[in-house]
Amino acid sequence: MIVLGIETSCDETSVAIVKKKNRFLLGDVLSENTLSQVKKHKKFGGVVPELASREHSSTLNLLVKKTLKESGLSLNEIDAFAATVGPGLLGGLIIGSNYAKTLALTTKKPFIAINHLQGHILVTRMKRSVKFPFLCLLVSGGHTQLLLVRKYNDFKLIGETLDDALGEAFDKVAKLLGYSYPGGPIIEKLALKAKKKINFNLPEPLINSNNFNFSFSGIKTATRKIINDSFDKKQEFELAKNFQDCVTNCLITKCSKAIDLYKKKQKINSFILAGGVASNKFIRKKFVNLCDEKLIEFVVPEQGLCIDNATMIAWAAIERLQIIKKSDILDFEPKPRWALESL
Ligand SMILES: Nc1ncnc2c1ncn2[C@@H]1O[C@H](COP(=O)(O)OP(=O)(O)OP(=O)(O)O)[C@@H](O)[C@H]1O
Ligand SMILES: [Mg+2]
Repeated sequence: MIVLGIETSCDETSVAIVKKKNRFLLGDVLSENTLSQVKKHKKFGGVVPELASREHSSTLNLLVKKTLKESGLSLNEIDAFAATVGPGLLGGLIIGSNYAKTLALTTKKPFIAINHLQGHILVTRMKRSVKFPFLCLLVSGGHTQLLLVRKYNDFKLIGETLDDALGEAFDKVAKLLGYSYPGGPIIEKLALKAKKKINFNLPEPLINSNNFNFSFSGIKTATRKIINDSFDKKQEFELAKNFQDCVTNCLITKCSKAIDLYKKKQKINSFILAGGVASNKFIRKKFVNLCDEKLIEFVVPEQGLCIDNATMIAWAAIERLQIIKKSDILDFEPKPRWALESL
């Protein structure tokens, strides 16, 4: 089975062709091309939806042609066409899904509508057969959710951020320090340069609360206050390190409790870290240590598959087609809001 996937939910236009390996539910990427729009949005200080739509619209056709060429396949050799239909920016979702629907219609092949967050999580299973049920921490630009994943389409939310997503908090702190989007990789690099031990006493909201929720906006506000109150720019490395340590500690504390509970309750054997923030090496290492300590398998996608990409969309479609052969109707409407629990 070979699926062409399209991802256009935010500021990356991405096309990938993924092939399911014979016999096993694992996959190989035949080709992938991703165009980031970061430079186009830079001067506006954030993603401008109309500009994002225009960029998707002007680059998608070329990207599909290039990806097909690199795979060595013709359009008729593709078995299904998948696209992100939500959650995300409506304009981008319409462009990507209409393109995939058109390809499906003209080739008389199935169209598969994929949830972006489901793609972020399931792609972890593309190179390694992680068994259901498992626990997953999804940390991205728009979401921070702790989930029990019972099947490819059965997600139970057990905790989430009550305010900012973690990626968003990284971006905002980087912006406060004068850096542009995406801030996560910048904070990670700055933190590596920290030499002195300075404790800025950042708060750890909800860390002792009796649930699995998170809160990051207070940490961001405290960071803003430090920067605004006679902050010495030479200490930005130490501040970045404090911020990264602080949010990581919040994640680890909650996930440690969740692993204890769900190992007993649901007999989970694996813990998955997914989403753009999962590309952070420091955070990955802390989760490796936690899972070693808890004697539970830890799985995280390779770094390139943590941030938005179309491979995860094509792969999620392959997983679904393995279970139900049914395609989606061509008037399946994009869903800017689409919770995993309502799949
Ligand atoms: N090394 C890193 N450390 C911390 N954060 C990172 C790192 N690399 C990327 N990020 C963050 O990941 C986010 C982007 O991730 P992703 O592409 O999954 O988000 P999104 O698609 O915008 O949101 P969502 O998937 O929730 O719709 C950005 O906020 C970015 O700063
Ligand atoms: Mg994403």
